[in-house]
Amino acid sequence: MPDEPRLITPLPTEPFVYDYPGAHDAVTYELENRIADPDGRIEALMEAHAPMRGRVVADIGAGGGFHAVRYAERAAHVFAVEPSAKMLAQLHRRIAGESEAIRPRVSVMAAGAEAIPLADGSVDIVHSRFAYFFGPEREQVRSCEPGIREALRILRPGGHFFIVDNDLREGDFAALLREFGYAAEPGLADRIDAFWAGRGFAAETVMSEWRAPSRGALERVVRMEFGDAAEAAMTRVAGHRIGYRYRIYHRAR
Ligand SMILES: C[S@@+](CC[C@H](N)C(=O)[O-])C[C@H]1O[C@@H](n2cnc3c(N)ncnc32)[C@H](O)[C@@H]1O
Repeated sequence: MPDEPRLITPLPTEPFVYDYPGAHDAVTYELENRIADPDGRIEALMEAHAPMRGRVVADIGAGGGFHAVRYAERAAHVFAVEPSAKMLAQLHRRIAGESEAIRPRVSVMAAGAEAIPLADGSVDIVHSRFAYFFGPEREQVRSCEPGIREALRILRPGGHFFIVDNDLREGDFAALLREFGYAAEPGLADRIDAFWAGRGFAAETVMSEWRAPSRGALERVVRMEFGDAAEAAMTRVAGHRIGYRYRIYHRAR
C-alpha cells in the first residue's frame, strides 16, 4: 500500500524569513556588498566599541557570508546564522572558496534569529546587518522580540550586540528610501530609534556612501533594491556614487 501523503504544516515557531532579493541574484548582491561603505567606516565604529581580534562572533542573518568571512580574518570564530535555503547555498559556496586559514573559522548555522543553536553566553559579539527581521516594521508580521532575546542569550555578559540599519533621516540614500522605498511613512525614523532605545540600544550614525565602479553597476544594484521604481530613482542620482548614512544600534549585554 502506498505511503499516506504527508502534510507539512508550518509550526508557529518557524522563523519569519524575510525573502531578500539578493537570495535570487547572487551576482548583484555581491556587487552591492562590494560598493557599500567602501572605506569600512561601519567596521571601524564596531571595532571602537568591541575589537573582534580573537573573539567569537555570531552574524545573524548572514546572507551570502560577505561579512562573516571578512570578520573571520581577525575573529577566533564566526557563526554565520541564516535560515534561507538560497542564501545558505551562497554562504556554503563562499566558504568553500576561502583559504585554509579562513574555512575552519566560519561555521554555518541553518537557523533563524528566533532559535539559534548556540549555548548561553557563548559569543562575544553579535552582528546583524540589514536584519529586516528585527525592528518595528517587522512587528506587524511577527514579533521580533524572540530574536532579540535570543541574541542577548547567546552573548556573554559584557558582550556587544550591533544592528546595522539604514539612516532614514539624512543623506541621498535616505531620500531615495523616503521617495521610492519603505521609508515614506512620516515619523518612521523616530519610531525605529525609539524601538531600539527602549531595548537599551544606543544609536550612532555613520556617514558613508555606495561607490560603484560605473554608473551601470550602480544602476544594477539600485534596480535590485528598488525594483520598478529604479529608473525614477536613478534620475535623482548623479554619476556612480550615492551618499549613504547608516544607523548603528548597539548595546552591551
Ligand atoms: C537584507 S539581507 C542582509 C544579509 C547580510 N547581513 C548582508 O548584509 O549581506 C537579510 C538576511 O536576513 C535573512 N533572514 C530573513 N529572515 C530571518 C530570520 N528570521 N532570522 C535570521 N535571518 C533572517 C535573509 O535570508 C537574508 O539573508
